[in-house]
Amino acid sequence: MIAEDEFKRIVDYVKKRYGIDLSQKRVLVAGRLENYILRNGYLGYHDYMEEVESNPNGEEAANLINILTTNHTYFMRETVHFDFLKQTVLPQLKISASAHKDLRIWSAASSTGEEPYTIAMVLMDFFGIEHSKWDTKVLATDISTRVLEYASKGVYLDEQIAPLPDRWKKRYFKAISDKEYQAKEELKKEVIFRQFNLMSPFPFKKKFHVVFLRNVMIYFQDATKYELLSKVYDYLEPGGYLFIGTTEGLDRNRIRFQFVQPSIYRKV
Ligand SMILES: C[S@@+](CC[C@H](N)C(=O)[O-])C[C@H]1O[C@@H](n2cnc3c(N)ncnc32)[C@H](O)[C@@H]1O
Repeated sequence: MIAEDEFKRIVDYVKKRYGIDLSQKRVLVAGRLENYILRNGYLGYHDYMEEVESNPNGEEAANLINILTTNHTYFMRETVHFDFLKQTVLPQLKISASAHKDLRIWSAASSTGEEPYTIAMVLMDFFGIEHSKWDTKVLATDISTRVLEYASKGVYLDEQIAPLPDRWKKRYFKAISDKEYQAKEELKKEVIFRQFNLMSPFPFKKKFHVVFLRNVMIYFQDATKYELLSKVYDYLEPGGYLFIGTTEGLDRNRIRFQFVQPSIYRKV
């Protein structure tokens, strides 16, 4: 059981620091934290939160967010975006960015890596033999250190890579056991994983051509979501594209983006 004041303390902390709204997730919070707190020798939620709050950049604060985030993702999720990237966005960028041959694509809530690796495979597929002339590295960020560690190893079960075309499985993955496959170096080096809290000021020196911000804003309150979208807009190149989750909706009166088609937006 989690008492009201204990629950509120966690909800307030997580909302303020990470934007994530857990106010309706009492069962989830208690279910995920209770055992952890007891196993690790804390007297209870307040004792635990003393430790987290007194050292917000410490290990326990990182553990808290590792435990409380929902990281569900999979390869080729929302294929419509990868088709659009390949058929519409990349042909445009190939022309407009031909002078510097530098494409900046950001997977802004990358979770365990399936999204940025899928983007990287689309890029390599699209550019083919010309790929080596371009810098198309994908920046992949997430708040959870646990998923980033997983993602940078690039090890997935056979059922996880099942949605990929056979051609990609063969070319970009190697079997490392009966059931496990690992992304080959060729693929791994195309993705740069970094921890980044979307609530922080953006530290990027250059603007992005494409941002994937999919299935993360569902955890934020409206005000947080539209503030974030405004920052993303500022950090997109003119003509740049934003992809959000296909089940997410945006109020077009509250954004500066041009609507392209459901879940795809553009900076004009
Ligand atoms: C459901 S996953 C989405 C993964 C992928 N984008 C997709 O659509 O399949 C949501 C991810 O957002 C991350 N996240 C939540 N709040 C965040 C924040 N404030 N900053 C950065 N990442 C955050 C979580 O850790 C989680 O890995």
